[in-house]
Amino acid sequence: EHIDWDAEAAEKGGYDSYMLKEIYEQPTALTNTLIGRLHDDTGEVNLDIGLDPASFKRISIIACGTAYYAGMVGEYLIEQLARIPVDIDVASEYRYRDPLVSEQTLAIVVSQSGETIDTLEALREAKKGGARTLGIINAKGSSITREVDDTLYIHAGPEIGVASTKAYTSMVSAMLLLALWLGRARGTLGGEQARELLHAARELPRLVEAALAPERVARIQEIAEKYAHASDYLFLGRGVNSPTAYEGALKLKEISYIHAEAYPAGEMKHGPIALIDEDLPVVVVATESRLLEKTISNVQEVRARKGKVIALLSDGDTENAQHADDVIYVPRAHEMVSPVVNAVAMQLLAYFTATALGKDVDKPRNLAKSVTVE
Ligand code: G6P
Repeated sequence: EHIDWDAEAAEKGGYDSYMLKEIYEQPTALTNTLIGRLHDDTGEVNLDIGLDPASFKRISIIACGTAYYAGMVGEYLIEQLARIPVDIDVASEYRYRDPLVSEQTLAIVVSQSGETIDTLEALREAKKGGARTLGIINAKGSSITREVDDTLYIHAGPEIGVASTKAYTSMVSAMLLLALWLGRARGTLGGEQARELLHAARELPRLVEAALAPERVARIQEIAEKYAHASDYLFLGRGVNSPTAYEGALKLKEISYIHAEAYPAGEMKHGPIALIDEDLPVVVVATESRLLEKTISNVQEVRARKGKVIALLSDGDTENAQHADDVIYVPRAHEMVSPVVNAVAMQLLAYFTATALGKDVDKPRNLAKSVTVE
């Protein structure tokens, strides 16, 4: 008897693509990012790195692509929790702009592969200026890990899909751990707030599992199919979730080839509002936050111009549902950890848009998993 053995299908573990498999691996990946690092009882974070948290006065975050958006979340979290000035650059800019670096700088390079040439060269540039260096990396023993002073591994496991999914949510979680560790070590974060955030972090695998419940996934698929023939998409978010909007737009571009742009919601009136008409779907991240009211007023501005609003709302927010054409409900999460949970909805929206259009999500045109030439 002939048995058809397709090694690739076996590796995809029953999923249609690596991307979908990796989306569903996120609860496990996040558990692995967090495991052994959180001490709820004391409110401490253990990162097992040699870095002296008092040895620098400013931080430069450097990365490309999806890792850059994880870095943007990091910028926000570190400034909020540890009160250290942070700037962030795409690596290809940093390496050529003669950056201001000193022994007082901590350069953090973020990379799934640890092999991206621009990120590696930017790291070398930072080292030349005397910076201390930290890698937030997935691939064990990769080039970047051999050149940084310390590595904080995200432990997301191998990622094959070209469009990054589980590495993103694990990078964002690693950024949260780092921000908590710095905040505790530098005395800007009290024990009580630390314990609350540690608790929120510990909930992440469970919240992401809930975000992947079949009825939620089916709803996102319906919405994706409804708007799959749009020629453009706009994504809006605020604060710690403005990077969620950027990452949502990036995912959609990468695998569906629909033109998508992202803006911090408050900036919409300074340009992108001119694009809004009845053909433009606008995804708005409007989950629970300090700034929710302001985000909702941005939603109303979109609506008044007949844009189609797809709102990401926290479970139970029926009041704001009235302002949206379509709602994606996501599990309620502490604002500081919500970018992890919200990213899952973005990934699924992009995934189902691409598959509705018949695109091969694992082999998007013109893209490479890791870019090792300039
Ligand atoms: C490529 C990939 C992206 C990735 C970026 C940075 O462009 O297609 O998915 O985000 O490189 O990769 P890194 O391995 O440094 O995170």
